[in-house]
Amino acid sequence: MKILVLNGPNLNMLGIREPEIYGNKTYEDLCDLINAYAKEKRIAVDIFQSNHEGDLVDEIQDAYSEYNGIVINPAAYTHTSVALLDALKAVGIPAVEVHISDVSKREDYRQISFVREYCFETVSGLGFQGYLKAIDLLLERQNDCNN
Ligand code: DQA
Repeated sequence: MKILVLNGPNLNMLGIREPEIYGNKTYEDLCDLINAYAKEKRIAVDIFQSNHEGDLVDEIQDAYSEYNGIVINPAAYTHTSVALLDALKAVGIPAVEVHISDVSKREDYRQISFVREYCFETVSGLGFQGYLKAIDLLLERQNDCNN
């Protein structure tokens, strides 16, 4: 199992940005947590963050036939990007959408998610643990497909 974790704009500012919403831990802490979990589960994981929509699209395209699962927190692009949705549809890799905060309880403009149409599951409001839950969901799905 090889999983790509994608993070959108401003997630590199974790620890600094709105700690009352996103907590005090940094982006590096998030990467350490994901890498340690991947090691425990004996799976390969790569983590990528960008503030640029096109770079995220490129990364999804490059994932084609390289990864068998994608965990994606598109951050603000969740609510605006048809391009990310189209890229996910193009590569056809099973994907889980993650949000650190509970977007369902936030502003109206955060209630739309374009990637949700493609992702088989959304994990929202579990903090950093949501990324680990998303990895579990991808592993479960792969096991189900192999049985
Ligand atoms: C977020 C929620 C988005 O609405 C916001 O734009 C983000 C982070 C989250 O992880 O809770 O940047 O995706």
